[in-house]
Amino acid sequence: MSDLLTISYRSLARLREPTSQLQAILKESRRRNAELGITGILLFDGTYFMQTIEGPLDNSATLFARIVEDGRHDEVVPFGVAKIATRAFPDWTMELIGPEVTADIVPDMEEFDFTDRRLRLVHKAVMNIAA
Ligand SMILES: Cc1cc2nc3c(=O)[nH]c(=O)nc-3n(C[C@H](O)[C@H](O)[C@H](O)COP(=O)(O)O)c2cc1C
Repeated sequence: MSDLLTISYRSLARLREPTSQLQAILKESRRRNAELGITGILLFDGTYFMQTIEGPLDNSATLFARIVEDGRHDEVVPFGVAKIATRAFPDWTMELIGPEVTADIVPDMEEFDFTDRRLRLVHKAVMNIAA
């Protein structure tokens, strides 16, 4: 079995036109991820991005390095990097997850935010979505 690598990070969005720029990120991500064998999820709380990418070790690492350099966000901080045996999101070349999805899973979720206090809770909830 070939090695798979999952990388999760939070970053500070630098979007001037959030709606259109988010769609552009998704569109280019899906096209390229399909080529690279990358799957994952992207969340945006209005301030921060949270993303998990997973795929072949080299491709995940190379993609992450490119994402870090992207001017549409900064302060990229990875908080989950691991080799995995199976993908959490095998069917999603890059799925945008909104608050309506996580609200069902995190009971006390009044707010969809990825501040330090909430980050891991939200991420854990999201990882369970696909399970
Ligand atoms: C928050 C965020 C998430 C991104 N996720 C991906 C992704 O999953 N896959 C991808 O190919 N590009 C993603 N990108 C875009 C890359 O940073 C980069 O623009 C894209 O790979 C094209 O790179 P290139 O212009 O060097 O060819 C993301 C960008 C941002 C800001």
